[in-house]
Amino acid sequence: MILITGATGNLGKATVEFLLRKIPAASVAVLARHPEKLAEIKALGVDVRQGDYTNPASLVAAFKGIEKLFLISSSDLADRSTQHINVVNAAKQSGVKHIVFTSFQRKRETDSPIQMLAQSYIDTEKHIKASGLTYTILKNGLYADVLPMFLGEKVLETGIFYPAGTTKSAYTVRRDMAEAAANVLADTGHENKEYIFATEENVSFDDIAAILSSITGKHVGNINPTKEIFIETLSKAGAPQESVGMAVGFAEAIRLGEFASGKTDLENILGKKPTPLKEFLRNIYSN
Ligand SMILES: NC(=O)c1ccc[n+]([C@@H]2O[C@H](COP(=O)([O-])OP(=O)(O)OC[C@H]3O[C@@H](n4cnc5c(N)ncnc54)[C@H](OP(=O)(O)O)[C@@H]3O)[C@@H](O)[C@H]2O)c1
Repeated sequence: MILITGATGNLGKATVEFLLRKIPAASVAVLARHPEKLAEIKALGVDVRQGDYTNPASLVAAFKGIEKLFLISSSDLADRSTQHINVVNAAKQSGVKHIVFTSFQRKRETDSPIQMLAQSYIDTEKHIKASGLTYTILKNGLYADVLPMFLGEKVLETGIFYPAGTTKSAYTVRRDMAEAAANVLADTGHENKEYIFATEENVSFDDIAAILSSITGKHVGNINPTKEIFIETLSKAGAPQESVGMAVGFAEAIRLGEFASGKTDLENILGKKPTPLKEFLRNIYSN
């Protein structure tokens, strides 16, 4: 039986959807902090189990009889390494054979502008490898799905105001990564492998401005402010310091090329071309 964690979230829900196209619901279980959120999935015959990454006993109970576990990284920023390590330890204790983990694509292991986030992935990968469990590490690219957050609600009127410079990144659509993860879970041959799930298409914010212009038929500029002006402008507008810090961290990581992709395994595991960024953005910005 395969268990997917984070099944109330975007990636988990989509992975379950793709997995059910490949294997029967009776072979699929999911983990949720609040199982009542998953009534629809339960009605399909999926085994919905309660568990919380912060509660090791709940995880050991939930992982009974599971052979393959898909650990979706926690959305908690503060204590992520501990939560993931709890999951890996519980998997080992419960007799799970194979763990598949959503890590993230990166260039540097230290001194990243988003080291606070990156470190939890690095710690988890190390812990998984040291556990002796069979593993598959999915190094997921930067979600195209977070772009609207970087672009802001009024991007079509104001242009792009984000200090990421002109460096290109491989923005990768979350549903593609979910489908690829479902393929890894359902098939064999992925034991002790690490895959980069990113697109070959690399774009800068100038390119994104051009894509938005072409989708909407009106000029969308790319202001590309300095980090200092960005911080000052958002702070004056009353944005919370934590959000501004996170936005600047990602902009800096993009500027340094952390998410630029060369070789990627996504197309091979998907068995088709990943969604082009223009197609993804058209669905959001064409109305
Ligand atoms: N590569 C990227 O660009 C990128 C961007 C965004 C996020 N991420 C990472 O990818 C993950 C999946 O993305 P997503 O879009 O699916 O995120 P999401 O919609 O926020 O889903 C996160 C999932 O994690 C679960 N979760 C959080 N804390 C938990 C805990 N203590 N115990 C058990 N489950 C817990 C949530 O459950 P509840 O419903 O109970 O909260 C939810 O199901 C995120 O959690 C984040 O780590 C990566």
